[in-house]
Amino acid sequence: MRKRILLGVISGLIAGGGLAGCGKQEMTTAPKTEDTSAASVNDTWPQLASPIKKDPAIEARIDELLARMTVEEKVGQMVQVEIRTATPEEVKEYNIGSILNGGGAFPYDNKHATVDDWVALADEYYKASVDTSDGGVGIPMIWGTDAVHGHNNVIGATLFPHNIALGATQNPELMRQIGAATAAEVRATGIDWIFAPTLAVVRDDRWGRTYESYAEDPQVVYNYAGKLVEGLQGSADSEELLHGKHVIGTAKHWLADGGTKNGIDRGDAVMSEEELVAIHAQGYFSAIEAGVQSVMASFSSWNGEKMHGHKYLMTDVLKGRLGFDGFVVGDWAGHQFVNGCSTDSCPQAINAGLDMFMAPDPSWKQLYANTVAQAKSGEISAERLDDAVRRILRVKMRSGLFEAGLPSERANAGDESLIGAPEHRAIARQAVRESLVLLKNNDNLLPLARDQRVLVAGDGADNIGKQSGGWSITWQGTGNQNSDFPGGTSVYGGIAEAVESAGGTAELSADGSFEQKPDVAIVVFGEDPYAEMQGDVSNLDYPGESDLALMQRLQEQGIPVVSLFITGRPLWTNPEINASDAFAVIWQPGTEGGGVADVIFRKADGEVNYDFKGQLTFSWPNDAQPTLRNPGENEELAQFNYGYGLDYENPVQIAALSEESGLKASDGNEALAVFNGRALDPWSFQVTDAGNNQSEITSSVAKLQGISVQSVDRKVQEDSRRLQWSGEGNAVAGFFANSRTDLSVYLGNQGALIFDVKVDAAPSDAVSLGMYCGQDCGAEQSITDVLKGAAPGEWKTVTVDLQCLAAGGTKMDMVLSPFYVRTAGKLDLTIHDIRIASQAETDIHCG
Ligand code: BGC
Ligand code: BGC
Repeated sequence: MRKRILLGVISGLIAGGGLAGCGKQEMTTAPKTEDTSAASVNDTWPQLASPIKKDPAIEARIDELLARMTVEEKVGQMVQVEIRTATPEEVKEYNIGSILNGGGAFPYDNKHATVDDWVALADEYYKASVDTSDGGVGIPMIWGTDAVHGHNNVIGATLFPHNIALGATQNPELMRQIGAATAAEVRATGIDWIFAPTLAVVRDDRWGRTYESYAEDPQVVYNYAGKLVEGLQGSADSEELLHGKHVIGTAKHWLADGGTKNGIDRGDAVMSEEELVAIHAQGYFSAIEAGVQSVMASFSSWNGEKMHGHKYLMTDVLKGRLGFDGFVVGDWAGHQFVNGCSTDSCPQAINAGLDMFMAPDPSWKQLYANTVAQAKSGEISAERLDDAVRRILRVKMRSGLFEAGLPSERANAGDESLIGAPEHRAIARQAVRESLVLLKNNDNLLPLARDQRVLVAGDGADNIGKQSGGWSITWQGTGNQNSDFPGGTSVYGGIAEAVESAGGTAELSADGSFEQKPDVAIVVFGEDPYAEMQGDVSNLDYPGESDLALMQRLQEQGIPVVSLFITGRPLWTNPEINASDAFAVIWQPGTEGGGVADVIFRKADGEVNYDFKGQLTFSWPNDAQPTLRNPGENEELAQFNYGYGLDYENPVQIAALSEESGLKASDGNEALAVFNGRALDPWSFQVTDAGNNQSEITSSVAKLQGISVQSVDRKVQEDSRRLQWSGEGNAVAGFFANSRTDLSVYLGNQGALIFDVKVDAAPSDAVSLGMYCGQDCGAEQSITDVLKGAAPGEWKTVTVDLQCLAAGGTKMDMVLSPFYVRTAGKLDLTIHDIRIASQAETDIHCG
């Protein structure tokens, strides 16, 4: 029943709003000089230059190659395919320039693929790309991977703490070491290119990618980005720039992925250009100044316009004003969401400045064919085509790829000792130690003596998968066991080592039961792993009731409780903090969980081992409401402000905190209107036509490709909408919002989605009724038979059981669209009075 629907994101069809405050400008370091590149660029953008200068020899070599390449070969360079959907033979046949492995994609579909397997597959694709037996130019392919916290798709790799934890370390220099270690592990597997760093400055922590962000403060992101890039790529004057143990880096996701309204993944950043510059672009400035060679376009939009199609920001600003001369890669078929585009055709994106499509879909061959045709017809100009290919070839040549030979024969390839190398793990463990943020330490409970009886409780205690978060072996970080992280250490593992080496005992007991009363209990608890899309939440409540009960049980027995919170974002945890004597945020530390014990235990001789150093780079909320809390923005609503973090030197007592979550529970007694002649807040009436053009309809008549809509009268003037599909292709009409609505109370009350409908022409093809809660989130229910069975021209009430839509994949607490209708066939219907109500009789059952 679930279908990927056409509406990528309800996008920025809704104007207005914007972030308050925080107009820091000092990070736009470059002096304003004469702008020679693009006169139309707003001059709040700095003029920058990469330290990696254009090499005339490389440019001449590119000229020579371009002159020999066919259009097919050029387009091949611009299409990146995925290892699950394209074989080496196809890479040869289509002259493909790049491959990637998505999160959780492994060589030969083997999660436990060895280093040799990775290298062997790299060899296969490489050989295919340089094979000139058919007379082509044979350009070596580059392989990109999401090594976003270490080489996280590879068994045995060092997994560093996620970026949110690295932000808390306040140690930009460490980024250089982390970058270099990550690059070395990636090189060992024969891979050239990393899709990191993520430079999002996340402002609404409900976003499921908050943990990929260093800080809500752009200054930190600015300070970190360049250092990480240098670690990955080598510094511009390095002998091994972009090769040897270094790789090509990617600044992502351009631009303002962390600024979407209501923290919705792939949503819309509604803000002024000044805010873009002052907040969201800062990391790119230092990344470019460090010579980053690729930039990934964001799925999100700026003021309603998709970044994959944003010529001003991709071409005029990034490549013009900011002097970026590398290439822009798309994100996971993200071009399909540009108005008028589909997965298999999007000249708009190339014309806007995208240089390489990320095309993981099985339909990449059609994308290739369409792009070839568009280049030949001139829809994509010869200049733009050559510019895109030139940028890709420039980066390939700069990295020495043309001389590098087989991946397996390159320096460090196949060197298993680099994967999870002790020196890399030591850096990760240092990062863990420095990232821990102490929120409470009453009566100086920490640091603990080692020679005690320690109970280690909570489902996070001995769970390396949980402590590693998303993008860990698998895409969402789910489905892993400790054995999937050989060489890694759980938090419990580190504690046991510390305690047992000094004559104490560490008893592991997830549920906190024990035989002999412990001297102290350590509860390791928190969020389970998630990644993009699935990680969005609708408020800031930490929902772990059983964790709270566990802490309270221990305290009631007179056992001091140290709580260690695993999380990818700040969450309201006042009840848990109250139920703990000491409380530290350990974020998602990755595979080196031993770094936690390093700080919370004294040395065997009783001295402090390491003090806490971490500080919040995200404000911690004082209730669970999804209010924005950032420096300069509702600071009074932070329980612990930006920059907070206790240490052993300056003890502080924390009194009981408020346990008012601020969330209002509705009883569901009243029906919730979605449309009663007008779209009710927060929804608006939106259409995606047969050409995949999305628009909000505010006029009373609109004729679009394959669908027209009209306001008509039933009881009063314009209280209904007539929707006519012409059968020209899939088109969607419905009510969408840029914020989420929680319908779970209705679901619990046997609720239903109810609407009145009049059918004037019965459907010629299948019709679906859908609910939508984000990319790949939602459900559709067939209403074809209901509509076919309706008496023509007569009103009828249709009632759809919410259970059906929930069972089909709608997260009822996260609804973005409570109602939409989709068909590719012909249909003429009128809708009236759409609402959600409890205790409804239902006449459509789960099909
Ligand atoms: C891939 C990820 C990708 C995601 C996007 C997954 O199947 O493995 O790498 O980011 O899809 O939809
Ligand atoms: C993510 C990117 C990632 C890509 C490839 C996308 O869904 O947004 O961050 O690099 O997939 O896996």
